[in-house]
Amino acid sequence: MPKSVDEVRGDIPFLRTGIIYLDNAATTPTPQPVLDAMLEYYREYGANVGRGLYRAAKRATEAFEATREKLARVINAKPEEIAYTKNTTEAINLVAGGLGLKKGDKVITTVLEHHSNLLPWQRLEREHGVKLELIGASKECLLNPSEFEAAIDKKTRLIATHHVSNAVGSIQPVEEIGKLAREHKILYLVDAAQSVGHMPVDVRKLGCDFLAAPGHKGLLGPQGTGFLYASGGRFAGFEPLLVGGGIVEEVGQHSSKLVESPQVFDAGTPNIPGIIGLGRACEYVLDIGVEKIAERERKLTEQMLKIADMERVEIYGPRDLAQRGGVVSFNVEGLGHHDVASMLDEITNIAVRSGHHCAQPTMRHLGVEGTVRASVHYFNLEQEIEKFIATVEQIARELGG
Ligand SMILES: Cc1ncc(COP(=O)(O)O)c(C=O)c1O
Repeated sequence: MPKSVDEVRGDIPFLRTGIIYLDNAATTPTPQPVLDAMLEYYREYGANVGRGLYRAAKRATEAFEATREKLARVINAKPEEIAYTKNTTEAINLVAGGLGLKKGDKVITTVLEHHSNLLPWQRLEREHGVKLELIGASKECLLNPSEFEAAIDKKTRLIATHHVSNAVGSIQPVEEIGKLAREHKILYLVDAAQSVGHMPVDVRKLGCDFLAAPGHKGLLGPQGTGFLYASGGRFAGFEPLLVGGGIVEEVGQHSSKLVESPQVFDAGTPNIPGIIGLGRACEYVLDIGVEKIAERERKLTEQMLKIADMERVEIYGPRDLAQRGGVVSFNVEGLGHHDVASMLDEITNIAVRSGHHCAQPTMRHLGVEGTVRASVHYFNLEQEIEKFIATVEQIARELGG
């Protein structure tokens, strides 16, 4: 039986504190079954992975490895195409470090990226002479595939874009960009930090070569988890970010032979409870149904967008719901974004994010210093959104202008 909203709320201890949690784009609260899976590991078989031959160690290894298959199910990939990381940022850095890009190679990204999908490319530009080009966007923060087409040249090796903007919620035409990349034989990396778990993501349909995602956002997994998908043999030749114990077949005095991917990315003792918890979180989200989550988030977002009609409130991003994930970013005229966020917390215990959302170029594109951002997940209630709308209205009426 798919899980109802009430059941999911009942499963999340953090919500019992009375908080109205609208900061799901930053990270999501953890359901009890996920906490239980981690506690079970600590209490019953808390051994290291990949080494011991005793039963607890074998059980830990099996549970740790099983998460690859569960993540693969979420995005329609194969287990061997999944590398564990500690977050989305590490997954993107793994690609930036692994591709061996050289002086003159070109990477195309956009002005709407989270800093985690920009700084790794800036580093390649600075340290290796890679050419970095940033594509612009429409006023509503949508990307236009034809602009990528115009930017592609013979030296272009990689396109890297987000799927859904964390700053304003715009859903990008990733399938079209993927098609373009394939036609030109260019690699395509999708930063799916705001889409995996929130909406159906199928890497075969996307046609991407790499997809970076967190465990701790849409998937309701623990913090400190994420993953990188690499299609087919794309991990081949990738240098892991870390080398050391746990990933070797043979070690000599001056050289070593490493194990195959994706285990080659698990040097040292990994986040065993986190990855086991992430596996349970995948099952949990699949039990609810990703399509159902997307549908509910669309409904809640439509409701949140009512603030767009208020005097003194300006919202950013697309108005068309088909082009918007569960994020609403706004400002109240005459008030700073941090002030509005603090008031929402103080007046109604509503948790939202304020600032540049690790996307300063996006803020520059919008011509603002920052925004207030409310972001939903399946478990949010219509009544919570009503309170949010009423409080924003009160703030705008009494204090704005
Ligand atoms: C679009 C996007 N990319 C990357 C990141 C970085 O994710 P993580 O915190 O998992 O490294 C975020 C986090 O909010 C994001 O929204």
